[in-house]
Amino acid sequence: MNKRVLITGITGQDGSYLAELLLTKGCDVIGMVRRSSTVNFERIAHIQDQVKLVSGDLLDEASMIEILRTHQPHEIYNLAAQSFVQTSFRQPVLTGETTALGVTRLLDAIRLVDPEIRFYQASSSEMFGKVSEVPQTETTPFYPRSPYGVAKVYGHWITVNYRESYDLHTTSGILFNHESPRRGMEFVTRKISHAVAQIKLGQATELRLGNLDAKRDWGFAADYVDAMWRMLQQDEPKDYVICTGETHSVREFCQHAFDHVGLSWQDHVVVDETFMRPAEVDLLVGDSQQAENDLGWKPETPFADLVKLMVDADLDLLQGRLRSLA
Ligand code: NAP
Ligand code: GDD
Repeated sequence: MNKRVLITGITGQDGSYLAELLLTKGCDVIGMVRRSSTVNFERIAHIQDQVKLVSGDLLDEASMIEILRTHQPHEIYNLAAQSFVQTSFRQPVLTGETTALGVTRLLDAIRLVDPEIRFYQASSSEMFGKVSEVPQTETTPFYPRSPYGVAKVYGHWITVNYRESYDLHTTSGILFNHESPRRGMEFVTRKISHAVAQIKLGQATELRLGNLDAKRDWGFAADYVDAMWRMLQQDEPKDYVICTGETHSVREFCQHAFDHVGLSWQDHVVVDETFMRPAEVDLLVGDSQQAENDLGWKPETPFADLVKLMVDADLDLLQGRLRSLA
């Protein structure tokens, strides 16, 4: 019998890579999608006939209870969230309902329907916020700096709490920023790679950004979903930091991206206050030694390769569109 696995957030960046990975492992993949007036399955269009999509929402516990009763998954990966930090300042309550309380609703559904289900929670390096030590590890205290970060701290601790209270197999992966050509356009790496491709092709001239000094530990999403899977295969549930151990500024990301197409970032990047945040996370850099020791996991994609693959993918995307118009 194939293992049945439920992914919430399957239409997102990570959900699409995780679904691909689980299919290669022979799992029956069930993806929870929320109702919308238009279909937004672009990231999973290539595997849509291999996964089962079911309707549910993190805001609606009954919908998740129904999914668990009907589809009886062995594992659940909770990747769904309001995941954009900037939006969380403008929609803090919605972010809390989804990114924080949504986790409790899903954990409660597991507790009520089948406590044997293994559960993965998508925790975040954003929880470290104003960091108290460098690099950050599983024992670094949290100091979130956004409603999103606060909501993720709640999601993290409720996951720990259900493990300790009800003996559930629950695990939090504290993942540092991870990117890909499937990253949403509003996140800084994709905003840069897409703008660089547009500028190279003569479709734009400038790129407006906020804080260029912020530093992040950026990895490749396809590497990181493998760590999620490894966590749920462990007999003992435990929380893990997943990262590259390197940090780079937004400015450096720009420099690498423009250099790759033979342009100078200073000629095109304009700093715009609109993209500054009320409170900023200045520096993130992690240490994933525990994941390497227990899970045998290490990042595979260096920073420079990540920047290039994202810019190349956006060049391909835009050139493909031009060809289809010709
Ligand atoms: P993403 O691309 O923004 O995807 C978010 C997913 O959540 C989408 O499928 C979205 O569905 C779904 N969703 C949002 N609200 C929902 C609701 N109320 N009910 C059901 N589904 C809902 O995010 P990602 O980059 O793949 O990240 C996956 C998870 O990891 C998120 O929890 C994120 O916070 C966390 N995380 C990400 C990173 C990172 O660097 N990428 C790092 C640490 C943690 P729609 O398509 O319908 O909008
Ligand atoms: N989005 C965006 N747009 N960010 C900008 C811009 C801009 O124009 N200019 C500068 N930045 C800076 C932000 O201020 C932040 O310091 C940094 O670039 C990264 O921003 P994002 O790419 O939006 O990601 P994030 O670090 O806030 O959050 C992402 O990573 C978290 C893990 O640490 C998201 O994926 C979260 O869901 C995830 O948990």
